[in-house]
Amino acid sequence: MPTSRLPGFHRRSVDARWRELAQRGDVSPEELRVLRALGAPSFDIVNQMIENAVGVFALPLGLGLNLTVNGRDHLVPMAVEEPSVVAAVSFAAKVVREAGGFTADADPSMMIGQVQLTRYGTPEVARERVLAGREQLLALANSFHPALQRRGGGARDVQVRILPAPEGPQGEPLFIVHLLVDTREAMGANLINTMAEGVAPLVEQLTGGRVFVRILSNLADQRLARASCRIPVEALADFDLPGEAIAEGILQASRFAEADPYRAATHNKGVMNGIDAVAIATGQDWRAIEAGAHAYACRLGRYGPLSRWTLEQGHLVGRIELPLALGMVGGATKVHPGARLGLKLLRVSTTREMAQVFASVGLAQNFAAVRALGSVGIQKGHMALHARCVAVTAGARGLDVEKVALMLVERGSVKVETARELLASFQEGPSP
Ligand code: MEV
Repeated sequence: MPTSRLPGFHRRSVDARWRELAQRGDVSPEELRVLRALGAPSFDIVNQMIENAVGVFALPLGLGLNLTVNGRDHLVPMAVEEPSVVAAVSFAAKVVREAGGFTADADPSMMIGQVQLTRYGTPEVARERVLAGREQLLALANSFHPALQRRGGGARDVQVRILPAPEGPQGEPLFIVHLLVDTREAMGANLINTMAEGVAPLVEQLTGGRVFVRILSNLADQRLARASCRIPVEALADFDLPGEAIAEGILQASRFAEADPYRAATHNKGVMNGIDAVAIATGQDWRAIEAGAHAYACRLGRYGPLSRWTLEQGHLVGRIELPLALGMVGGATKVHPGARLGLKLLRVSTTREMAQVFASVGLAQNFAAVRALGSVGIQKGHMALHARCVAVTAGARGLDVEKVALMLVERGSVKVETARELLASFQEGPSP
């Protein structure tokens, strides 16, 4: 497995970065062409992907470096418009790498299909009828996807959930059938939806009820991924602060997120900065991932953080757990050349391994955020990167971008107006 440690990568020209990727065997000459074309699929492909297509919307693609998960190195392709996300994950992954890397695991790819049954009579009787028809329901579900069974997956279980009516006791309790399906290397939305729609008539037949909604659940809580890291406190020392002070800031940030949903939402936004970016770059359904993550964050009855930090025997320990419904086959991974390239760069061989990497990226991103938040604040780092965007917006190009950005930060005024004034002063030349 080639290393994910590429010292000085950020200082090289884009051409030199491409050359390095080619030399390492991360990209073929054909894939280099995809990178140079900004990963954009041809218009023919775009036109097949969505309706009323009129163009392609591109995002910057960066590489998160230094990541090691369960002893294996991964380059992390990240498609994101926000400055500092890629730098933060690379920095955090480096700190964790020096402390032994991330440890991660993931559940099998078990997804849930939901079938809503109404007008079923007595809930307990209907429940018994559905459960008595379990084998029939599973066989029918599997008949829609024989290839999935050949790949070792398929419908595995039937469960019934009876929920109080939202209108109160006068309403019919909700009767929901869950079909649990192992989707193997697929995210599984299409195949679950086909199965849920396919078994609905049998659910009606078994119970005499009427089915309305049948669709997958994005709360993929049978498909969780977990990652953790353990960093010696003294290795956290930075910004002229001892490791203990940085650790305390991180622990306080973790407590804050546990106690307060207003903070937990921002804490989780930071986690998802990393996960969404790698999800987009590898052609995943990031809306599904987002929906699952935030619903899971509410599982204890109140919105909470997806990751937590504790102090254990002189080590700062971070843990994250979230649903990750990912796929290496089907969807955009099949047709989008940029997504295919992203998957190749990530070097994972199964969706479970991919989920382990995604969870580690989320934890790395969160570490970088809470480390800064609990000490010097994030504006320092953010502003340096944001200043480059401001410089470009003001019209700076080439070497002027870095020059203007530096001057903006030094002046403590990262504003387009100030950048324009600086650029104008360059054109005027030195004053006589
Ligand atoms: C910004 O995109 C993400 C952060 O707000 C995350 C956090 O507050 O933990 C820095």
